[in-house]
Amino acid sequence: MRAMNVRWQDFEITGELRARRMGQRARCLWLTGLPAAGKSTIANLLERQLATRGHHTYLLDGDNLRHGLNRDLGFARADRAENIRRVAEVARLMVDAGLIVIVAVISPFRSERDFARGLFDPGDFVEIFVDASLESCIRRDPKGLYARAMRGEIGDFTGIDSPYERPERPDLRLNTEELSSAECVERVMGKLDRVPS
Ligand code: ADX
Repeated sequence: MRAMNVRWQDFEITGELRARRMGQRARCLWLTGLPAAGKSTIANLLERQLATRGHHTYLLDGDNLRHGLNRDLGFARADRAENIRRVAEVARLMVDAGLIVIVAVISPFRSERDFARGLFDPGDFVEIFVDASLESCIRRDPKGLYARAMRGEIGDFTGIDSPYERPERPDLRLNTEELSSAECVERVMGKLDRVPS
């Protein structure tokens, strides 16, 4: 049964106030890309860089969330949509708590990424396309999952038998075949510095 007869309550301490007390502008930095494109690696380095600058952060990683909050979900279309809906809602709560939230999920479908963006005030959601060709992701294959998918041992695998819809107008595109992880992080930091906090 969907929530009915439920009204939104306004409270006195707002998201803006929480962020101001932390001395930062809260935002969601959303990393999307194929498996093995480099999302988690960049997310990790990016969080370290933000922490070094004294920011308050949290990292929501697709693989890790699938061990807990999203452990009931698989990789069929509807499950991925629900996965992204939950991650986006959690990110919104965390941004409202004042944090800079880094999200690293494949999020292969445009409609779910647009849903996520729609939860945030303009400018508070930064879509970062972690881009590498399918060929080089297959070559990297750090978890051996592409190989298993190509042997037919895993179904609905992104890039093999499940689509990845490339972002058409991401806020930032990082080509991980040309840039090192450190360079990718520099570009993100540059982007954040250009948007006033
Ligand atoms: S998403 O498509 O719903 O956004 P998410 O980022 O949460 O995916 O999880 C992707 C991770 O799950 C991958 O990094 C990979 O390790 C693992 N995985 C297991 N099965 C699949 C699959 N069929 N397709 C993609 N990733 C899979």
